[in-house]
Formats: sequence, C-alpha cells, structure tokens
Amino acid sequence: MIQPPVLDEKRNDKNLTTSSTLPARFGVIGAGFIAGVHGLAAQAVPDQFTIVAASDANPAAAAAAAETYGWANSYSSVGEMIQAEELDGVIISTWPSTHPELIEQCIAGGVGLVLCEKPLVLTGEQALRVWDLAAASGTTVIEAFMYRHHPAIAKIEQIIASGRLGQIDHVRASFTYFNKSMVGTKVDPNDPNRPWRYRADQGGGALYDIGTYAVNASTHFAGGVPTRVAAFGRAKNEYGTSDKIMGLIDYDNEVVGLLESSEVSDTNQEIQISGQYGTLHLPAAWNIYDATTITVRSSIAHDYRDQSRAFQTISDTFAVPASNAFKDQLLNVANVVQGSAQPRVSLAETVINTITMEALAVSLNEREEVDVQIPERVATAFRQSQQLSA
Ligand SMILES: NC(=O)c1ccc[n+]([C@@H]2O[C@H](COP(=O)([O-])OP(=O)(O)OC[C@H]3O[C@@H](n4cnc5c(N)ncnc54)[C@H](O)[C@@H]3O)[C@@H](O)[C@H]2O)c1
Repeated sequence: MIQPPVLDEKRNDKNLTTSSTLPARFGVIGAGFIAGVHGLAAQAVPDQFTIVAASDANPAAAAAAAETYGWANSYSSVGEMIQAEELDGVIISTWPSTHPELIEQCIAGGVGLVLCEKPLVLTGEQALRVWDLAAASGTTVIEAFMYRHHPAIAKIEQIIASGRLGQIDHVRASFTYFNKSMVGTKVDPNDPNRPWRYRADQGGGALYDIGTYAVNASTHFAGGVPTRVAAFGRAKNEYGTSDKIMGLIDYDNEVVGLLESSEVSDTNQEIQISGQYGTLHLPAAWNIYDATTITVRSSIAHDYRDQSRAFQTISDTFAVPASNAFKDQLLNVANVVQGSAQPRVSLAETVINTITMEALAVSLNEREEVDVQIPERVATAFRQSQQLSA
C-alpha cells in the first residue's frame, strides 16, 4: 500500500527552483567506487558541474573521497549535508537496497534533482512510490544509466528515426562478464559483511546489477510497453543471488526483446536491433572506452527487387567518436537543473524497467511466463518521453 508523501517542514525549498548559475552544485551520497567515477567526470566539466561535498555512512570513506577528488566538505549524515550545503542536487551512489530510503529523504529534504545509480530501486512498488513522491514534490529523479548519454546511442536513435531499419522487429541486448570473485579464489559466501554484489538483500545479482542496462535498452529501442516476460537461467547461486538470466520481453507493439545477462560468462556488451530493412549492431554499448563503429547489415534484396539474393548482405558503417558517458550524463543533469533540457532517462522508463525486472525475476524463480502490469499513467508518460527524445 503506497502512503502519501510526508514532506519535511524543514525542507530546503530553495533547492527546488532551477539554478541560474553554473556550475551546478552537487553532493554525493555514498563515497565508494562509482562516486569516484562521477568525481573524475565532474573534473572534466568544471564550468558546468561541480561536486562540493560527500556524505557516507562510513565517515572515513566520505573524507577520503573528498580529499582525493577535491570536494570541499564531507559528512556522515545525509540530512546534515542537505541542510548545510546549497545544493542543486545529489548523486546517490550507495548500494541498491539503500536507494528507496535515501531518495525519499532527499525529496523530503527539498533536494531539487536526484541522480541515483542503477538500479534506482528493486521493486515495482518502490518505483511507483518514487514516482508519486517526485510528482507531489517537484523533485526530478533520474536513474544514472550513463550509457544513454553516449553519442553512440544518439546515433542509433537517428538511424532508427531515418527509417534505415524500417519497422523494428526485435532487440537483443547483452551484458555479461566473467566475475572471477564468484569462482576459484572468491568472496566467502558465509561472510555476513561480504560486498553488496554478493548479497541478494542489498540488490546483488546479474539482473539488477548488469541486466538492468539491457532491459532499459531493449525497452527504449523497442519503443513499446512490456506486456509479458519469460526468463531462464540460475535463480540462486551460493551467494543467494542469480548469476545468469536470459529473458524474453513481449511489447505491446509486437516488438520482442531478448535479454542476455550473466556474471559467469565472458564479457559481452552488444546491442542488436533488427528491422525489416536491416540489422544494427553496436559492439559494446554500456562501457564504450574508445571511438566505435555502428554497423547496419542489410540483405541485398531488402527492397524485394532481387529475391534470389535475399541471403546476401551488404553493410553500412557509422563512425562514433570517443566520449565519456559519465561526463555527458553530468552535462545533461546540469542542463536539466538550468531548465534547458529534459532528462535523457525519464522516470517513466525507470518505473517500467523496475516492474519488468521484477516480472523477469518472478519468471526465473517460478519457472513460468509472467504478465507485466504497467499502470496507464506511467505508460502514457513513457510514450510521451519517447516522442520527446525522437
Ligand atoms: N554506472 C556504473 O557503471 C556503475 C558501476 C558500478 C556501480 N554502480 C552502481 O553504484 C552503486 C554503488 O556501487 P559501488 O560499487 O560504488 O559501491 P561501493 O560499495 O563501492 O560504495 C558504496 C558506498 O555507499 C556507502 N553507503 C552504503 N549505504 C549507505 C547509506 N545508507 N548512507 C550513506 N552511505 C552509504 C558505503 O559505506 C560505501 O562507501 C550501486 O547502485 C551500483 O549498481 C554503477
């Protein structure tokens, strides 16, 4: 049962106005690995985005990150940081299971923009609560799918919009890597303080850690609302997490999504989008370190002039320059704070992603096909946000 939002009387409503000055001023919550990646990205765009403070349940981690990345202040309390600093927003970079409470605390505290690491939350109920709280408060909440800000993704959107692929038929998205800490010399499954990736209660496991990217890309490029899923893989390993999930997602526009996610198979980060006139391929979608190339492969006979050559193909290539997607993400966030851009990743997409992942997890556990129930208000907002980004 979703409760109505309770807003803190001491909330800092000045943060809810759009900023008139750059750089946008942000505080980090959770000063671990990915906070450092955001710290480096912010250093690349100092005129647009600056991190001024960090808070962490472990004060030593906050102080160490502040020292390393040149952030002015560090805190052990999120509330204290929000009250003390004049922030345009925060970056939440803690373990997934902590996100719902922290997002709620930030909204209640009057934070204007919350950029929260993936997965934003772990259940559909939590996602809808964030949706309702954000709508009631005016806080912008963005899931930090950094890959969506890379120019390769904008190029794919252009190629699709140009009609080069024709009607999209299916989307295959993969995120696999071989986690050697799960086999051989490994993290102890009986250690109660083992890292979050090895704990189901903190949001570990292939689906929520890495598969979430593939589900997001599948839905974004399918351009439809998911209606049902079926998943196969390993529901539980010795950490109590699922380290392998392969899924099918059926969309309301008859596009089918194919998800591949595994922590025990070598690295694969491909997106493949197949339409009536061709198949688009991006070799690595989530972590793009260098310049890359998108390929569109088509049958010579795709316009039906020469069916005898239906199985011979030709390729077009599209060069994409190198770019740091984390930096590009911060630039989008700075523009959203300024009121000059929409978030690249809408909250509607996040709600859909979360409900779809929950259905995939149920399908894997229960060994059955599962219906995906997206509330109409969310589906409508998703369709609108897809049109805006087209
Ligand atoms: N976008 C990416 O490429 C990427 C890569 C890695 C991790 N992530 C995401 O970033 C998040 C963090 O992962 P990480 O690997 O950086 O974790 P981490 O363990 O390195 O750091 C998390 C930090 O959060 C702190 N913390 C935990 N609970 C807290 C709370 N309630 N309040 C304040 N501080 C708290 C911990 O003390 C720790 O310092 C996860 O959601 C993960 O999925 C994203």
